[in-house]
Amino acid sequence: MNFAHFFRYVQDAPWYAHFLMPVLEALRPLPPNAHVLDVGTGAGKLIELGQAAYPGLRWTGADVDEVMLAEARQRLSLHRVPLHHLQEDGRLPFEDGAFDVVTFCSVLFLLPDPEPLLQEARRVLRPEGRLITLTPTGNGRLTFTVLRQIGWHPHNWTFFLWRTMTAGNGRAWAQKNTLPTFAQQTRAAYSQQHGFQGLAVIEVIDWVAKSSLQTSRAYA
Ligand SMILES: C[S@@+](CC[C@H](N)C(=O)[O-])C[C@H]1O[C@@H](n2cnc3c(N)ncnc32)[C@H](O)[C@@H]1O
Repeated sequence: MNFAHFFRYVQDAPWYAHFLMPVLEALRPLPPNAHVLDVGTGAGKLIELGQAAYPGLRWTGADVDEVMLAEARQRLSLHRVPLHHLQEDGRLPFEDGAFDVVTFCSVLFLLPDPEPLLQEARRVLRPEGRLITLTPTGNGRLTFTVLRQIGWHPHNWTFFLWRTMTAGNGRAWAQKNTLPTFAQQTRAAYSQQHGFQGLAVIEVIDWVAKSSLQTSRAYA
């Protein structure tokens, strides 16, 4: 089983919805009918949660892995979400400016060179679009609050494995400053915030004068 396929087991554990929650919060200001592209959508959990939270939004999913897309198709079968199989070259098969938001959850920190995919994300976003990434930090404490949030579930073993498996890449991602640099190069507003008791970091790039992410807000 490779790391991406492990995420098939993660999807239905309640802790994973807590991990993804900051992304849903960052979508809150969107107008109904806005179009969100989830790149590296895996088994489609973010789209499933996003559709429940914001029924007006339109979603498209994309991934390089057919096994994961098959899972997503099953999960999202009632919702008719377009799901695209991507090539590994970083190209996104969409028109310029097609989306209001592009999301990457636990994707960019796995790539040796995320730059081509970031450039493509910018291209397919409308001029005042928003890019959201969510990344495990490799830090954060297993507090009572987290344990209470997680509750009991047969898939909780995935939480402990996930923490171990993502720690190295998560810490490396924090040191690379990839998104602040990209935001600076493309003259965008950048903000970041920790969530899920410090276990996750959400980074938001807005191609507008000022990021509308409330930096004082706690997502944890
Ligand atoms: C750790 S999983 C996360 C899946 C999902 N975003 C989630 O949060 O559950 C990473 C996903 O990124 C996909 N992926 C890896 N490289 C990619 C690339 N270059 N373009 C698009 N997706 C990619 C993998 O196939 C996998 O489904």
